[in-house]
Amino acid sequence: STKKLLILPGDGIGPEVMREVARVAAWLGRRRGITFDISEDLVGGTSLAEYGVPIREEVIQKAREADAVLFGSVGDPKWAHVGFDKRPEIAILKLRQELGLFANLRPAKVFDALVDASTLKPDVVKGLDIMIVRETVGGIYFGEPRGIETLPDGQRRGINTEVYTTHEIERVARVAFDLARKRQNSVCSVEKCNVMESGLLWKEVVTDLHAREYADVTLSHMLADNCAMQLVRNPRQFDVIVTGNLFGDLLSDLASMLTGSLGMLPSATLGAVHSDGRRPALYEPIHGSAPDIAGRGIANPIAQILSFAMLLRYSFGMQAESDMIENAVAAMLGTGLRTADIMSEGMARVGTDVMGDAIVRE
Ligand code: NAI
Ligand code: MG
Repeated sequence: STKKLLILPGDGIGPEVMREVARVAAWLGRRRGITFDISEDLVGGTSLAEYGVPIREEVIQKAREADAVLFGSVGDPKWAHVGFDKRPEIAILKLRQELGLFANLRPAKVFDALVDASTLKPDVVKGLDIMIVRETVGGIYFGEPRGIETLPDGQRRGINTEVYTTHEIERVARVAFDLARKRQNSVCSVEKCNVMESGLLWKEVVTDLHAREYADVTLSHMLADNCAMQLVRNPRQFDVIVTGNLFGDLLSDLASMLTGSLGMLPSATLGAVHSDGRRPALYEPIHGSAPDIAGRGIANPIAQILSFAMLLRYSFGMQAESDMIENAVAAMLGTGLRTADIMSEGMARVGTDVMGDAIVRE
């Protein structure tokens, strides 16, 4: 049956890079006979301007009913003065919350043609292809007790608590093990069980689940501080890394810089499988709305296009088409076309639409 796809371009460069995805999707229709039931809506600053809210209930409902959501980016300095609950960024926070998107997948993949764009030595990152799975709705950002309190002696103290339940750990570990089976079949679970109770439970639950259901996958454990070091020293030792909210936040930002540019990196956030078999999922580039370059036609569309490729792979089961798109991006880079953010000597500088066009041609 035709897959329902909700497209939310958002603000700034969001609509500019989403236009290139539309061309890739149109090509799939024309040349592969694959069509989608696409609907598009406003979020972020564009929704604030039109409807007075960063996201309408109606759009959240559409997202619930869709087979997958392709999100651009939200944020516009024009709305910097409004209250916290009316900022454009609320749109993405609300979607994550309302759809229960608990697992954030961030691949860090280095294209051969861009090895030089990495901040690390080419021999360290060449061929790098890792995936970080970060738990996103639990852990220290949400655990109770939390707050700032005043002590009898007048000092104040700020409190956050890392809390993880067996259920929360199991469901995110399951995502990592399932992913690994489609990749290099190896998972590294990251915590700090040497100093944290929640880390101790994390390690125990992942170990148990592995023995029960995923014994065919190679499992290792690593302390988070060591993992940060290993990601810089020898990132290719990893396939899938699974970790909690705080460590995942830091390690995924670190890993993104192994590849060179923000404009290259897609992400996915997955929720729980429903009783009817559907699984809420949202795909988006890791970059924001880039107001500094918006409207100039120079944004790199690759992260948005690769987010679409991830969507095809993980939500629509279209491995072949996903591979085609990723290969087309690699081939296009091989021809030497570069947007400004990945420009290097001897390459040809192009804008968003020329690059999108070249990817479609490849
Ligand atoms: P940003 O990712 O928008 O931009 C950071 C820098 O990277 C800028 O210099 C920008 O020009 C460049 N850049 C980003 N994407 C690019 C691309 N595709 N091609 C070429 N260059 C690119 O992050 P920033 O500046 O911190 O935030 C701008 C706005 O975006 C803020 O309102 C922020 O809240 C929002 N934001 C939204 C996100 C989302 O929708 N999920 C994620 C991150 C930020
Ligand atoms: Mg972060």
